[in-house]
Amino acid sequence: MEAKAAREVQYRRMVLEDVPQVHAIDTASFSLPWPESSFRYELTENKASRCWVADATGTNGEKQIVGMLCLWLIIDEAHIGTIAVHPDFRHVGIGKRLLATALLEAHHEGVRQVYLEVRRGNVNAQKMYRQFGFEVTNVRPHYYSDNGEDALLMTLVAIVPGELERLRKEP
Ligand SMILES: CC(C)(COP(=O)(O)OP(=O)(O)OC[C@H]1O[C@@H](n2cnc3c(N)ncnc32)[C@H](O)[C@@H]1OP(=O)(O)O)[C@@H](O)C(=O)NCCC(=O)NCCS
Repeated sequence: MEAKAAREVQYRRMVLEDVPQVHAIDTASFSLPWPESSFRYELTENKASRCWVADATGTNGEKQIVGMLCLWLIIDEAHIGTIAVHPDFRHVGIGKRLLATALLEAHHEGVRQVYLEVRRGNVNAQKMYRQFGFEVTNVRPHYYSDNGEDALLMTLVAIVPGELERLRKEP
């Protein structure tokens, strides 16, 4: 499916049947992807895990997973474990809506603060996180084992649900 053929995108919790497509997006997006078994573990074993997908329906009715996200709940905090959008569907608002949907649901479950790590060079992702109010609160030097790149720890200190609703609905 081409991005312009995506008639409708639904944001819903990930199920086991999604895992092969989710893993394909992960592999296409990261130099250190998770093994496919990690997604299955998150869905079946890890009670703290909340995994989401963006599920596109094309003009001819075909369906395709075009985005994925996993976060972990730790009492009133959430840690974003991974988020990626299929390379053919980037920068059309899917990542933003996926993140807003997952964080709104996390807020319903009592989450107030959110943390994530992002590569220092990943400026596109950092721009998205800043739209949500995330700020850099720490640096983890040489965090990534493939190239020794630093991780920026970004924190959203207080979720504002109305702001997430706005981002979820933004064109
Ligand atoms: C980061 C990522 C998930 C964003 O998802 P996306 O669907 O492409 O992003 P959106 O279309 O929702 O854009 C949200 C904001 O992100 C920023 N952004 C995203 N892609 C961008 C690009 N190519 N150029 C500049 N800014 C970009 C912009 O601020 C954008 O807001 P705008 O549309 O008002 O300019 C996606 O680019 C991706 O999968 N990247 C590879 C994996 C990755 O880096 N994940 C994050 C790990 S921490």
